[in-house]
Amino acid sequence: MKICMVGAGYVGLVSSACFSEFGWNVHCVDTDVARLETLRRGEMPIYEPELQGLVDRNTRAGRLHFSDDLAAAVAGAEVVFLAVGTPMRRGDGHADLSFIFAAIEMIAPHLTSGAVVATKSTVPVGTSREIERRLRQLRPSLDAAVCSNPEFLREGSAIDDFMHPDRILVGCDHPRAREVMQKLYKPIALRNAPHHTSRGPSRGADRFNSLAQFAIRAHCRKELLQARSMTRRNGSFVQDTVQQ
Ligand SMILES: NC(=O)c1ccc[n+]([C@@H]2O[C@H](COP(=O)([O-])OP(=O)(O)OC[C@H]3O[C@@H](n4cnc5c(N)ncnc54)[C@H](O)[C@@H]3O)[C@@H](O)[C@H]2O)c1
Repeated sequence: MKICMVGAGYVGLVSSACFSEFGWNVHCVDTDVARLETLRRGEMPIYEPELQGLVDRNTRAGRLHFSDDLAAAVAGAEVVFLAVGTPMRRGDGHADLSFIFAAIEMIAPHLTSGAVVATKSTVPVGTSREIERRLRQLRPSLDAAVCSNPEFLREGSAIDDFMHPDRILVGCDHPRAREVMQKLYKPIALRNAPHHTSRGPSRGADRFNSLAQFAIRAHCRKELLQARSMTRRNGSFVQDTVQQ
């Protein structure tokens, strides 16, 4: 399967390396030429344990490519991921979606019919509908599906988080796109990571549900660890709970 990753930043680079490790053919593009040159020299612009090894192995095997040729990377790709930045807007705290919409304008002319456009960037609920609307305007006859596939990566354990997620979240209305996303993640799903697919407006809201659960778990874990250090007598009980 050919995949195009738009954005070779933290999320785009980690995701590209991991997808290529599954055996997929990944073309990672960026507008930052200096970053691409660094990557082509085999140097990592960020530090993540295991990332260097994954990138080296998969570029040598011809499964991972870094390029600024967006047209060639998008053409024929079954899935085009958007992993561009969505910085918080000053004043109101809303996500600035200008990089997302600029990327849509850039990829639209080159998308192959049947392609799935998936957002890895953090976007508000309703963004998939807006992307669909813009794609229809730019390429009225194009048959493309849009879905949301948020990532939950922690710095320092991003590769492990990607390879061993507690769930794979895909928000998608289109049956063919659901099949493509299931095929894409099959190597992880085989390790029993549940694949959650949601439709309609909840396809974006599920990300926030997962983030809330993640935050609650992290908070509970911190509280339990504090409790364990305070109550040495019950230490073993608390420790067992923390590890679950
Ligand atoms: N960093 C994290 O831990 C994390 C985790 C989960 C989700 N996210 C979300 O993922 C998104 C990306 O985050 P990041 O930390 O990887 O951002 P980043 O700023 O490190 O990377 C974004 C990359 O996209 C490139 N880019 C921008 N417009 C482009 C275009 N039109 N074509 C090609 N490349 C383009 C930029 O040059 C940059 O290299 C954000 O929405 C972020 O909120 C981040």
